[in-house]
Amino acid sequence: MDDQHGILMDTMNELRQAVVRGRGREEISAILDQLIEFTRMHFWSEEQLLEQTGFPGLADHRAEHHRMLAQMIQAAHSIQYGEAVPMRPLLCSLRSGYIVHIGGLDRGYGPWLNDHGVD
Ligand SMILES: [Fe+2]
Ligand SMILES: [Fe+2]
Repeated sequence: MDDQHGILMDTMNELRQAVVRGRGREEISAILDQLIEFTRMHFWSEEQLLEQTGFPGLADHRAEHHRMLAQMIQAAHSIQYGEAVPMRPLLCSLRSGYIVHIGGLDRGYGPWLNDHGVD
């Protein structure tokens, strides 16, 4: 999971670079789509592990994943349909959302998974 978190943050940085360099809407959309796809995959594998081990906080964790994905998908749609989305605030909010999530809820399941035989 830590590796996947690293990839997520890398993709997030790639998105930030594209914004900073003033890349066009299509390129930004493409990277955001990648980020969404990878996030979806990551959330899914995390939820599978938590479900397999009967993690008690799964429902809350899943709800938070859902909320985060919904926010990203909403932003991706707006960009695709040409709405003027202020990118820097969006990036800030995505980035801090991830950091809070990874450092908070995600950190909370580490010991549980270790106790249940998952490295
Ligand atoms: Fe998570
Ligand atoms: Fe995670």
